Amino acid sequence: MKRDFLKLRDLSLGEHQALLKRTTELKHMRRRREVVTTLAGRSLVLIFEKSSTRTRVSFELAMTQLGGHALTLPVADSQLARGEPLADTARVLSRYADAIMVRTFGEERIYAFAQHATVPVINGLTDQGHPVQVLADLYTMVERLGELQGRKVAFVGDGVGNMARSWMEAAGLFGLQLHLAAPEKFRPTAQEAAALGGHGVKLFDTPQEACRGVDVVTTDVWTSMGQDAEKALRKEAFDGYCVDAALLSHARPEAFVLHCLPAHRGEEISEEVLEGPRSAVWDEAENRLHVQKALLEKLILEAEKEA
Ligand code: CP
Ligand code: NVA
Repeated sequence: MKRDFLKLRDLSLGEHQALLKRTTELKHMRRRREVVTTLAGRSLVLIFEKSSTRTRVSFELAMTQLGGHALTLPVADSQLARGEPLADTARVLSRYADAIMVRTFGEERIYAFAQHATVPVINGLTDQGHPVQVLADLYTMVERLGELQGRKVAFVGDGVGNMARSWMEAAGLFGLQLHLAAPEKFRPTAQEAAALGGHGVKLFDTPQEACRGVDVVTTDVWTSMGQDAEKALRKEAFDGYCVDAALLSHARPEAFVLHCLPAHRGEEISEEVLEGPRSAVWDEAENRLHVQKALLEKLILEAEKEA
């Protein structure tokens, strides 16, 4: 049976831990420019219904660097744009490729796709989650802090966006304490937070309170892809939610900052923090490549074993 990676909980904690360990091996091998051929002869198709820089390039090169091949389907030129059902596309692409990554809007689209695909499907971002990004974020925490259990992370900004949702899920799964600060209109309800992250999520009224004593501060754009019509309204609502030096002073002195990128300097994060010594964002971006290699190996090779 193929397994998909549509949300963090699709893998158990033990599987995640093994994956993070394998990520270190793959990162070291890349540093040493060792030739790795674990996915020789395998291929990945990437489908983007939204823009991308990091996700596209890191998945394509992850496959290349593991001896495999990746192909991005330009959706606008495909039959999907002319109304061919997702289900038909999923079935056909499964006959060609060993895994498929999809970036889309509502998560029901990726679930429908995965239901009809016969190879593993990976979530490359939906409106409700960005699990491969948070996987890279967690790995960046492991690199700097070691153990994840009990670590405190403040998420400041859009509390109902895809990044916040995947962080809430991560809190429940990895035993993190996620302090979430968002304007009321963009804050999950206590029930939503508990459904995603169990007791791991605490909701705060102000970013300052949320940042007090945390190990990591993270944020995301105020206006995500597909929300451009709300840009002005969101800019107003998130006033006071910028991760800047003053806000960071509430965190632990050794705390560092994560941001999935692309960043809007002067909005959700200041130039000074993004470019400063407490920014881990460039390592975080690099780590997309390494964690996704570990994920691709796991999903593709395990699906073959069980075929
Ligand atoms: N962080 C992230 O997913 O970036 P892209 O939109 O560039 O893929
Ligand atoms: N929340 C952002 C993340 C981009 C990687 C968006 O969906 O646009």
